[in-house]
Amino acid sequence: MSSSYAPPSRKQNPHLPFGDQRTAPWYGKDILSVRQFNRNDLEYVFGVAHEMREMVERVGTFDLLKGKILANVFYEPSTRTSASFTAAMERLGGSVIPINEVRYSSVAKGESLPDTIRSLECYADVVVLRHPEVGASALAADYAKKPIINAGDGVGEHPTQALLDLFTISEELGRIDGLTVTMVGDLKHGRTVHSLARLLSLFQVRLNYVAPDILRMPKEIIGELEERAMPQEEHELLDKVIGDTDVLYVTRVQKERFQDPANYDKVQGSYTITSDVMKRAKDRMIVMHPLPRVGEISMDVDPDPRAAYFRQMEYGLYVRMALLAMVLGKA
Ligand code: CP
Repeated sequence: MSSSYAPPSRKQNPHLPFGDQRTAPWYGKDILSVRQFNRNDLEYVFGVAHEMREMVERVGTFDLLKGKILANVFYEPSTRTSASFTAAMERLGGSVIPINEVRYSSVAKGESLPDTIRSLECYADVVVLRHPEVGASALAADYAKKPIINAGDGVGEHPTQALLDLFTISEELGRIDGLTVTMVGDLKHGRTVHSLARLLSLFQVRLNYVAPDILRMPKEIIGELEERAMPQEEHELLDKVIGDTDVLYVTRVQKERFQDPANYDKVQGSYTITSDVMKRAKDRMIVMHPLPRVGEISMDVDPDPRAAYFRQMEYGLYVRMALLAMVLGKA
């Protein structure tokens, strides 16, 4: 599996008519990593996401991507990413080929990822791919002529989640610069926190990592952010930092990624956000979680207006609508 990252080149499709979509900055591009985005790009994505929100609120569904087809290919389980890309495409008037259970596809017969992708792009205009191996989306993009959107590659990245996370922070708190973001839980396996930490390094943000020793943020990510002079601190106790936190980003301990189940048992339940914990947090702050949660945020926190994790899902719809429109040359 290829692990090296190269900026994607614009993919030309000779079957598309000439028109203004050829000059759109994201037309035909893959979205593989948050490293592709600078602050101007983020402003652009968020601007388009705002337009999408306005249109959904006004008319629900519209025909921006009428005639376009998305192949939604998931080699790992998903509720939110899969459903929100489907909803995004359908709200834009396009349609979806859902491959949510690859065991019912020819993957079960031993078909390789490059062959599966090259087959599906014969029927679709864009492919969303979730795969358990780091670099799978980059490999798919090497073979595909149509845009590939990384919907999570193992413990690597989840760029569209990070974009929606950042959009959530910006919408909920009105700014990103100057904030203190505390990431808590499984920072080793959590691809959402890997992508979000990288994206936050474009801003003046302080990062706290709260995790048990065996689930610490990977050294390469800390090193990468150190090179950009990003203030970062590691802690084992949430109490040390909860009072200074503007964004508490909670993650699930990812049982499926542990080789030794005994290690999972040792750290599972290390941090639980309860209404008691929230008493020590600022009045103006938000709690986020990419979901699913399995007990790390108690349900008694849900009615707290600072609990932003379900609103976060809705912001994701608008960001994913924006990304589909962008790579298909309609934004
Ligand atoms: N946040 C996220 O990736 O959720 P799913 O695994 O349900 O897609």
